[in-house]
Amino acid sequence: MTAELRFDVLTIFPEMFRSVLDAGVVGRARERGLIEAHVHDLRAWATDERGTTDDYPYGGGPGMVMKPEPIVAAIEELRGDSGWAVLLTPQGTRLDDAAARALAARGHLVLVCGRYEGVDERVSEMVIDAEVSIGDYVLSGGEIPAMVVIDAVARLAPGVVGRPESVESDSHTAGLLATPQYTRPDEFRGSRVPEVLLSGHHEQVRRWRRARTLRRTLDRRPDLLREEQLTATDRELLDEFGLVPKRADPL
Ligand code: 6GU
Repeated sequence: MTAELRFDVLTIFPEMFRSVLDAGVVGRARERGLIEAHVHDLRAWATDERGTTDDYPYGGGPGMVMKPEPIVAAIEELRGDSGWAVLLTPQGTRLDDAAARALAARGHLVLVCGRYEGVDERVSEMVIDAEVSIGDYVLSGGEIPAMVVIDAVARLAPGVVGRPESVESDSHTAGLLATPQYTRPDEFRGSRVPEVLLSGHHEQVRRWRRARTLRRTLDRRPDLLREEQLTATDRELLDEFGLVPKRADPL
């Protein structure tokens, strides 16, 4: 049986992937055969004895550039009939929930870990299907971004996350931030869990959670939700629970 989702990773640092692939939700999904993930050392496709994968940039400048021959040969070997080659680069399309779902739908991804000085542009022109970034900051290579993609995409495969409704209710799937959560004890250093959560009134709990989700999203992510978009019911919920705007995070 072949898995619903397959990842092939191309990297010069294969040892970085062990913990992420073996532990947690991803590790369990691999054990259960729901996903497959294979990590390949790019040096195996180097054209010289020393395993060279980078070289000086034409036109000058700092740092090194990844050579095209090993990457193109590796992708051609690994992608088969239906693999999608994805280059991790800060120049890529920003990963979000919609992008993760589009990647999951391909079924087989070859994740190419660039280094930030770059990959010879002809690789992108010849064999790369999509370029992905995980945000507007610079990392020293595409390895951590590839792990982020594997985790985010694997969660979307059928059966990987225990209860399907927990994927559907995840923060961002619903387009809003998650509601605050509490567990025992009901009082911790004088701070009590909101009484409504202890009440056993499921409809009231649902309404309170919805109100907290709306308030948080308005406060923290005005790009996801603005006051003008609230329905009359939403406004009533915010009033009912007395939720007022919270000060901005210091960052
Ligand atoms: Cl995909 N690569 C690197 N090197 N830095 C990044 C990134 C990717 N996404 C955000 N920063």
